[in-house]
Amino acid sequence: MGNAARKPIIVGNWKLQKTIAQALELVTELKNALTQVRDVEVGVAPVFTAIASVAKRLEGTPIAVAGQDCYWEDAGAFTGEVSAPMLKDAGASHVIIGHSERRHLFGELDAAVNLKLKAALRTGLVPIVCVGETEKERDAGETMGRVGAQLDGALAGIEADAAGKIVIAYEPVWAIGTGRTATNAQAQEVHAFIRGRLRERVGAVAETMRIQYGGSVKPDNVAGLMAEPDIDGALVGGASLTADSFIKIVRFKRT
Ligand code: PGA
Repeated sequence: MGNAARKPIIVGNWKLQKTIAQALELVTELKNALTQVRDVEVGVAPVFTAIASVAKRLEGTPIAVAGQDCYWEDAGAFTGEVSAPMLKDAGASHVIIGHSERRHLFGELDAAVNLKLKAALRTGLVPIVCVGETEKERDAGETMGRVGAQLDGALAGIEADAAGKIVIAYEPVWAIGTGRTATNAQAQEVHAFIRGRLRERVGAVAETMRIQYGGSVKPDNVAGLMAEPDIDGALVGGASLTADSFIKIVRFKRT
């Protein structure tokens, strides 16, 4: 890992999985195993309906709770949406924004990601902004162009002092849920590009911003990824659904 100013951040993205009872069972195991973890920021992102119960169970522990999305208005006639202040009210401190499933399955555009990011920042939630290219874009040599455009879209109008709070997650779409992780070098190449683009946009604060890798992160590949200078954490889907594998990932240094 490149920089002592950047505390690694590892978050489990549960997606549309786990009832409240199943969520509580999992976080109880995590809580017991990870109470002492102070050198890594750890979080879980349950479905909206489980957030309040999970946050309550994790009170007083270092494990944070994240929403998987949020709307950009705080309240109003927006049937079906959940806002950043509502997430905070339920006990969340972080929120994932612009996940590739939101972008590709639900048509979410960079402009919406930007509004959601601003809502998270004004609410005081730590935003985790996801970017990443499809396989077609990678094969066509468009990886940096795509990721750069997503960053520019997401960060439009964001000043340097606010940017320091933002976490970026680089998740190549072809590596999500496929078992096909990017190689350490492939991931590092894009992470370095992202940090360079952040530096152009917000200056020196880019050195303090965490950039997570996501896409088939597992106990046996996390340490190699985390050893790269610009990889500061992981956004973990499938392997975050069982306590055993998520705990191993969080403890990557000791395995
Ligand atoms: P995965 O998902 O670890 O199952 O590939 C990662 C993500 O979508 O955040």
